[in-house]
Amino acid sequence: MNHLVIMAGGVGSRFWPMSTAELPKQFIDVLGVGRTLFQLTYDRFEGICSPENVWVVTNERYAKLVHEQLPEIPENNILKEPCRRNTAPCIAYVSWRIKAMDPKANIVVAPSDHLVTDPVEFRRVVAQCLKFTGESDAIVTLGMKPTRPETGYGYIEADLSAPCARNKEIFRVVKFREKPALDVAIKYIQQRNFLWNSGIFIWSASTIINAFRVYEPSIARIFDKIRDKLGTPEEQAVINEVYPDCENISVDYAIMEKADEIYVCPASFGWSDLGTWGSLLIQSKKDLYGNAVISSKVDVYDTKNSIINVQSAKKVVVQGLDGYIVAEHDGVLLICKLSEEQRIKQFSNEN
Ligand code: GDD
Ligand code: MG
Repeated sequence: MNHLVIMAGGVGSRFWPMSTAELPKQFIDVLGVGRTLFQLTYDRFEGICSPENVWVVTNERYAKLVHEQLPEIPENNILKEPCRRNTAPCIAYVSWRIKAMDPKANIVVAPSDHLVTDPVEFRRVVAQCLKFTGESDAIVTLGMKPTRPETGYGYIEADLSAPCARNKEIFRVVKFREKPALDVAIKYIQQRNFLWNSGIFIWSASTIINAFRVYEPSIARIFDKIRDKLGTPEEQAVINEVYPDCENISVDYAIMEKADEIYVCPASFGWSDLGTWGSLLIQSKKDLYGNAVISSKVDVYDTKNSIINVQSAKKVVVQGLDGYIVAEHDGVLLICKLSEEQRIKQFSNEN
């Protein structure tokens, strides 16, 4: 059976101060469309699997939010992490949990901070990748055509010379490289066969579990040891005990950079990772001068290419800015050059 896993335990620190540890960006309607990024993620997979096969992995502090925002899925499918250990332990936990119930499970894993503008094409691509992994031991990722030397993404070097025999849209991966330095990213995007990793993965439960056993055995041992408790009333207590022992590592470093049998499906469905204020500016409706003003209490003069999102101030007047973020939430104000936005993570940690 097909299963959908939504990873929703990040804190979205590059979106500070709108995104905070209390209310991370995925649970906010950042686009102003009446649905949060997390809800939009769920909507995008409509028809891929039934609500009983949708799983959300999140920190225990967001479990109530998840239930409120997605009452359609069974509460038991909300897996609660007692602490943050990044995406490798999150994926391991849910994969062992699903396999305990459905040994032949076929899984698509999705982040909860993306935007997709062509959901019909998105579902077509995901469905064909699920068909592929349902018939083979493959790890598949969806690859996006790079448009800039972004250092916040993973890069996939694909062998585009010969598609797979069973699916002409899927290719072997030569090398996966997570978040390279700028000079390396510049070299990558000059070559035609490098793609961005979308962070959307497709594999069977047994394939990813075996990959953990080979490439990340310390995490695999933890879940192999407790697998009999998964799906029982003791699960949460056991997870609370062992989860802190998991290595703090993303799946990209733990598995994708190391595994052999990796495939990529180059796709195009209007994808964007809403990871930063700059990416939100690109996606937002702008005025004649390239400004996105996401609040009504703001007067803007002589300003261009800026994003302004003020939530609780009575009134704000902005004059003479070019290429800036002005963001206020709950009494915390950030004014930062868009070109320096990767530093916001550090500012949010220090505050
Ligand atoms: N449950 C859980 N627990 N979820 C988590 C955790 C965790 O500890 N940490 C992060 N997540 C969730 C986030 O909420 C997000 O939806 C998703 O996992 C991915 O995490 P990010 O922190 O946003 O990763 P990234 O954007 O830096 O990098 C990943 O995505 C890029 C594309 O968006 C990588 O896969 C890159 O290779 C990829 O290019
Ligand atoms: Mg992200």
